[in-house]
Amino acid sequence: MKKIGSQVTIAMDGPAGSGKSTVARRVAEKLGLLYLDSGAMYRAVTLLAIADALPADSPKLIDRVKACHIEFRDNGKTILLNAEDVSIQIRTPAVNRLVADVAKIPEIRHEIVKHQQRIGAEGSIIAEGRDLTTIVFPNADFKFYLDASVTERARRRLAELQAQNVDTTLAVVEAEIIARDEKDTTREHSPLRTADDAIIVDTTDKTIDEVVDFIVAHVCENE
Ligand code: C5P
Repeated sequence: MKKIGSQVTIAMDGPAGSGKSTVARRVAEKLGLLYLDSGAMYRAVTLLAIADALPADSPKLIDRVKACHIEFRDNGKTILLNAEDVSIQIRTPAVNRLVADVAKIPEIRHEIVKHQQRIGAEGSIIAEGRDLTTIVFPNADFKFYLDASVTERARRRLAELQAQNVDTTLAVVEAEIIARDEKDTTREHSPLRTADDAIIVDTTDKTIDEVVDFIVAHVCENE
């Protein structure tokens, strides 16, 4: 593992299935960084809505989010919501369908962004999501925007879901991804967009290792 000398913030954004989580996790391991999966936080608070059948825009949900406690363990592998391990639950199709509606509520974003910035202040970090390069860490030392074709992204998500024994099809996963992309890119608050100073990486025809090596090399050369 290469240790980087000074405190560094790497921010990475991109749509669902672009490879952000896997890439960021590996870069974190290689460079000895804290890994922040910001989507996991939006997914965790979506469980609060599902648990009590609260609409995404209900004031009650906002109160629950303000009062909840989210914590990561094992450098992002485990996420605890109010002390309960919800790492598996946050990846279910029910959460996939609702999360973008919860994530568009400004009061909810405000709480989660504050939490992310506190985590970012703790040390060198690689953080990934939809607004990390634009809103959460606008002054990040390095910014990357990962993308891939919709079909390739759906294929990757399908493989993940099949590994969890979720019974679904490529067409269903692709439709869900298109619907989530549409919500994430057109919402009023903090939509997914490419920061002007982000390096765009198209991962469609690249292996995870190729993308990881590119990012690690770029950071090490320019640190
Ligand atoms: O990255 P992941 O697919 O797990 O994110 C789940 C959802 O959380 C996204 O579709 C988006 O609606 C929301 N999200 C967000 N801002 C982030 C990260 C995720 O709005 N920084």
